[in-house]
Amino acid sequence: MTTTQFIDDLNIRFFNGELSNEFINELQQLPVDRPDVFAFVERMFKFMNQAKVPATDLSTMTGEILGTLLARILPGAWEGAVPPITLPGRHAAIDQYIKKAPWYTSETNSMLDIGCGFPPYTTLDTAKAFPDWNILGVDPSLPVYLIYDAQGNYATLDENKKTVYFQPALPTIENWNALLDDAAATKRRFENLLEDLIDKPSGEPDSLPRLEKNPIAGYETDKLAFIRGGIGQVEIQPKDVIRCFNVLFYFDDAFYKNALNWFAKNTAENGWVLIGADWAVSTESYYNVYQKVGDTLVNKEFAFSLDCICPLAIVPWYANYDDDRQTADLTKYIAIIRSDTQFMEEFYSIHDAERKLEGVCPRDDNGYYGVLDPSVGPSEVWAKAAKFIESFNTTGLNQKAAEVLKKAGLNAGVNAVGHVSVYY
Ligand SMILES: C[S@@+](CC[C@H](N)C(=O)[O-])C[C@H]1O[C@@H](n2cnc3c(N)ncnc32)[C@H](O)[C@@H]1O
Repeated sequence: MTTTQFIDDLNIRFFNGELSNEFINELQQLPVDRPDVFAFVERMFKFMNQAKVPATDLSTMTGEILGTLLARILPGAWEGAVPPITLPGRHAAIDQYIKKAPWYTSETNSMLDIGCGFPPYTTLDTAKAFPDWNILGVDPSLPVYLIYDAQGNYATLDENKKTVYFQPALPTIENWNALLDDAAATKRRFENLLEDLIDKPSGEPDSLPRLEKNPIAGYETDKLAFIRGGIGQVEIQPKDVIRCFNVLFYFDDAFYKNALNWFAKNTAENGWVLIGADWAVSTESYYNVYQKVGDTLVNKEFAFSLDCICPLAIVPWYANYDDDRQTADLTKYIAIIRSDTQFMEEFYSIHDAERKLEGVCPRDDNGYYGVLDPSVGPSEVWAKAAKFIESFNTTGLNQKAAEVLKKAGLNAGVNAVGHVSVYY
């Protein structure tokens, strides 16, 4: 099957054949040698279809993310390993949620951030937000060596001096292409650079090129520690809070169940576990909140930021397996909200006007969300997306979305950080 046939087939099955030409053109860039990417897109479109997302809500920018970025961030680009991709500030809303939670007391003072990523930006953010807490970051891909080349591109290498992951200094599509066009050569280049630098005295802290040995140690304090390892692989003291974000959507539901059992063992009595996903600046957030009761974790809440119903990026549909329970729940709730025509009319009237005002993929002449205004820089987009969430909350759309869920018989509301919640 050619890429064109693949896209035509998905277009008919999931979008009534109504995808825009611009979106389709972006999808044509899907790499033909990556069946994992094609399977991922098919699963994603299936979820979008179940969530009742119409073709007109898929912006050209979303098409570009799927056509060019997706292949770089899937495990298939990294020999099956989960890449340690992370972003500073992405869990700010989750830190706020914990601060405002009714269960948060002065006795709540320890956290495990499992699958913290590297550099451990979000763990550092949380350590700043909770300076008195003892925080432990755990991740299997904490590097033994970190290498920056002369241009500031970096790579992480393991104890065998093999490259695990690399990233351009500025992660634009062009810069990613430059490194990934011949990924094996890029890996070798970093491995050779390690051999060059390993016996040389280290230069200035920010000099280029440079080598950092066991770089995670540089982040540790008397309150913040890190261990290399994964779920079920490390021995720790039970924690008041466990956070596991942007990790479990890489695995199937059997893994999720095992993870819950391990989290239950490692949570203090009445402690809390937050599992979920998000994008930059706490956009496209969704998460379950569990409480440890007796020996098990009880599912208390599923919450999501309202931009999940009409996201700029792809996190709400980012599932590596068909049985991803969180994507399935989110899809179910979005479908209920999107089926309410009165709510959606009000949502679009507010949101489409704001997209136009901000130059963020406003509707084109044919009624499709389009492209970013050229004046909007790459780093501004997600700040604007975060502003959209603020508008949903100040205009009361989050409250109204919760009302729609209530009408459908769910115990829904808005939580302390403005996310739409279903309580169990
Ligand atoms: C996309 S990153 C997320 C980083 C960070 N939590 C965030 O939200 O920005 C996913 C991380 O999961 C880690 N990971 C993969 N398998 C894991 C496992 N079995 N247990 C814990 N973490 C794992 C990867 O090494 C990677 O750093």
